[in-house]
Amino acid sequence: MYSEKVMDHFNHPRNVGEMENPSGVGTVGNAKCGDIMRMYLDIDDNGIIQEAKFKTFGCGAAVATSSMATELVKGKTIQEALEVTNKAVMEALDGLPPVKVHCSLLAEEAIHAALWDYAEKNGIKIEGLERPVNDISEKEEEEEY
Ligand code: FES
Repeated sequence: MYSEKVMDHFNHPRNVGEMENPSGVGTVGNAKCGDIMRMYLDIDDNGIIQEAKFKTFGCGAAVATSSMATELVKGKTIQEALEVTNKAVMEALDGLPPVKVHCSLLAEEAIHAALWDYAEKNGIKIEGLERPVNDISEKEEEEEY
């Protein structure tokens, strides 16, 4: 049912954890299942993503897609990171079963939420970036996730 790459990233997720003083951090909820993901990004002065970390209360597919997503955004510019869509992540993982496609949206939206936070902190506008509808960062901060 799952590709070898999905199983590998599920069993050995890359970049799990938290980050102190991230350039941007965002939390999103999955409208379909209620699972949650938080993404941290470290972005240097040239706008290159140096480090990405994630934490999730989500299923195996969410873990695998976030792990792959963090690997894909590292070393990229912000504009390039916007191209790391859930479709791109699924392709990099050799696909997901149809019932699990919604899980991959968590990773994409979490990247966008973290970039949104980065843009707000720096008073800039990122071309092509919209705040994800499932961005629950503020709510999560209040509840001390
Ligand atoms: Fe919720 Fe997969 S079932 S993220």
